Amino acid sequence: MKGLELLLLPLLLILKDVSAQWNVWMPRDISAMTNSCVVIPCSFTYPSGIRPYRGVHGIWYFGHPYPQLFPPVVYKSRTDIVHESYKGRTKLLGDLTQKNCTLLINNVGVEHSGRYYFRADLGGANIYTYPDFTKLQVLDQPNINVPEEIISDQSLDLTCYVPDNCPDMSPQIHWMYTDYLPNPLFSPDNVEDSNTAVLSSTLTFTPKPMHNGQLLGCRVHYENTTFVYERLISLDIKYAPRTVWVNVSQEVMEGSSVVLHCDVDSNPTPSITWFFGDTELMSEVASNSSLPLDNLTPEEEGVYTCVGDNGYGSMNTSMYLAVNYPPREPWINESLMVLEGSSVALQCTSKGNPMPTLTWLKDGELVGTITAEEWSVLELHKVTPQAHGVYRCLAENEHGRASNSLNITVEFAPVLVDDSKCTIVREGVQCVCIASGNPEPVIEFYLPDLNITINNSNNPFNYHTYSDGYTSTGIIKLQDKGERGNNGDTTVHVHCSISNMYGSETIRLELQQEKKFMMAVIVGTIGGVAVIAFIIAAVRYVGQNNKKENGNPGQDVGSKVENPSMFYSAVKKDKQSLRKKVGDDSDYQSVGPMAGMERQELNYAALEFLHGRHLEGGFRRADGDTSDYTEIKAK
Ligand SMILES: *[C@@H]1O[C@H](CO)[C@@H](O)[C@H](O)[C@H]1NC(C)=O
Ligand SMILES: *[C@@H]1O[C@H](CO)[C@@H](O)[C@H](O)[C@H]1NC(C)=O
Ligand SMILES: *[C@@H]1O[C@H](CO)[C@@H](O)[C@H](O)[C@H]1NC(C)=O
Ligand SMILES: *[C@@H]1O[C@H](CO)[C@@H](O)[C@H](O)[C@H]1NC(C)=O
Ligand SMILES: *[C@@H]1O[C@H](CO)[C@@H](O)[C@H](O)[C@H]1NC(C)=O
Ligand SMILES: *[C@@H]1O[C@H](CO)[C@@H](O)[C@H](O)[C@H]1NC(C)=O
Ligand SMILES: *[C@@H]1O[C@H](CO)[C@@H](O)[C@H](O)[C@H]1NC(C)=O
Ligand SMILES: *[C@@H]1O[C@H](CO)[C@@H](O)[C@H](O)[C@H]1NC(C)=O
Ligand SMILES: *[C@@H]1O[C@H](CO)[C@@H](O)[C@H](O)[C@H]1NC(C)=O
Repeated sequence: MKGLELLLLPLLLILKDVSAQWNVWMPRDISAMTNSCVVIPCSFTYPSGIRPYRGVHGIWYFGHPYPQLFPPVVYKSRTDIVHESYKGRTKLLGDLTQKNCTLLINNVGVEHSGRYYFRADLGGANIYTYPDFTKLQVLDQPNINVPEEIISDQSLDLTCYVPDNCPDMSPQIHWMYTDYLPNPLFSPDNVEDSNTAVLSSTLTFTPKPMHNGQLLGCRVHYENTTFVYERLISLDIKYAPRTVWVNVSQEVMEGSSVVLHCDVDSNPTPSITWFFGDTELMSEVASNSSLPLDNLTPEEEGVYTCVGDNGYGSMNTSMYLAVNYPPREPWINESLMVLEGSSVALQCTSKGNPMPTLTWLKDGELVGTITAEEWSVLELHKVTPQAHGVYRCLAENEHGRASNSLNITVEFAPVLVDDSKCTIVREGVQCVCIASGNPEPVIEFYLPDLNITINNSNNPFNYHTYSDGYTSTGIIKLQDKGERGNNGDTTVHVHCSISNMYGSETIRLELQQEKKFMMAVIVGTIGGVAVIAFIIAAVRYVGQNNKKENGNPGQDVGSKVENPSMFYSAVKKDKQSLRKKVGDDSDYQSVGPMAGMERQELNYAALEFLHGRHLEGGFRRADGDTSDYTEIKAK
């Protein structure tokens, strides 16, 4: 009330100045809660020259100042006649003679909201309606002053207002739903403005994002009444994104499709932007966003980041998307030609996810270590001809395998193949010389006794050569029977020369030996059905002739000699030297030089076809299995 007086002091001074005129003072706006009351403070003046006739009277109108429009009469001092809706509700608190027109309206309702005009009636023609008015607002809820923007973590003041213009009823303000607010502070206040009073209570606290959407209420209660007024508000608390959720990192297969999700908790709704590495993929304003990724390729493996930004702040979360795929066809060296004895390193690499293991296979057999390195290196040291082959690098991971191969071709000096030899055949002597080498060896025969070389371009004999890959075969047939020695014995000196760009060698070919030949016959016949039949027949034959041939030591030899295959004799001019021993290894090896020394003594190429001839001496084996030679005498 002190405040009110202070406020009125300058006002009264003004009133004095204007006291000689028709003037009224009342608050422009005043409010009241429904069912409560309101006192509209009012004072007025009239020209000093006017002498009120039969007292000072006054009328309060609702809505319009002019009686011609028949506005509802709120109060009338001359009579008790008032408008229906004000009957029993109004009372003039002021003393009109004191120019005090203060009005009380009890039990106001919303329908009483509106303008109130005062009309002074001083008698006679001195009746005047002041144009100034009070606008009454009847509320059924208190007011809460809510800042336009409430920002999380910043101190917030919320003020609840209730009019306090009813002297008999004192409002009380309580805040509702404040139990979970952090350290709420309540400060009641009573504000008077323009001679109207407002009771308020200010709630102070620091809101958090979790309080967004929470209800708060202001409850007004009048003591000793049942009247309760409430206003609820929902807090709209702005906060920067506080969580950004995206899918956890994961592995998917190439070609598959995935949808990544991002959920951002923020107020207001953020703009969600997806990044792949540093590249922006898409952006939208939403609380959640889906990023569809179709038909994934390995290039799409990487970090995906979801950024939420709503102007109050930004936050991001990343995930790693791994795109798995089976190994790609490995890269390996080109096929290579390698010189025997040199070293090479083969390299292999393949892409795949997870990183493939690399394995080396040579001709299907595992040779290289398994490694999980990006590059696998297979080193071949001092390669031999056996290193020749197909080298395959196999890349494997849990999703599949792929391989690639290269060929290694080893170049090497010619090597004589064991099968090289001379044999006696029906037409004479056939010598076969087989050599392997790369490039394929050239084969020449040399007949030292005749001092002639036999090759493709110089071929007086029956000479054939052919090649099969890295193996060359030369065949020569000697049929010259005219050079038989005096005693009819024959021998042969045939040298085979094998050569290519990396080397050459000359070897003397040996006559095939009888033992080996027999073994060949036996081995060659095993397994043949026809042969089984033959054996049965032979057993019978032996049984029939057993007695007849018993005790004949020459039988074995004879039966062998009758075989169409040929035996060849080394014959010396010297008749005493009918035997040539070749059984022992050292002798065998030294045949070449020995032959050279004895060149003058030996006759070359006297061939005899033994079939059907009388066999004088037969042949004799040396004792012991290790012996490897035969002596043959033929006539
Ligand atoms: C008018 O009358 C009311 C009620 O008696 C009183 O409270 C108020 O102070 C008076 N106003 C003036 C200006 O005297
Ligand atoms: C309410 O009633 C109690 C007793 O009934 C009284 O003491 C108190 O003054 C009253 N309050 C008001 C505002 O009338
Ligand atoms: C990401 O998460 C969402 C929601 O949980 C789910 O529907 C979706 O399948 C997930 N995406 C992937 C690729 O896991
Ligand atoms: C995603 O956002 C939309 C609106 O933006 C909403 O309707 C939907 O419920 C949200 N989904 C999830 C899983 O939050
Ligand atoms: C993600 O957030 C970090 C800080 O938390 C920031 O350094 C980075 O730049 C953000 N990334 C993006 C794409 O916004
Ligand atoms: C195999 O390829 C690698 C990589 O190109 C190369 O360094 C290496 O010399 C090659 N090896 C051979 C034997 O050519
Ligand atoms: C390796 O040699 C084989 C024949 O022996 C051939 O079929 C294949 O194509 C060759 N591979 C390469 C990679 O040259
Ligand atoms: C072999 O013949 C060649 C000519 O073709 C000749 O030069 C050489 O002296 C002869 N050698 C012998 C041992 O007769
Ligand atoms: C065949 O031998 C003769 C005589 O030794 C020689 O001159 C000729 O060059 C040889 N030819 C080939 C193709 O080796």
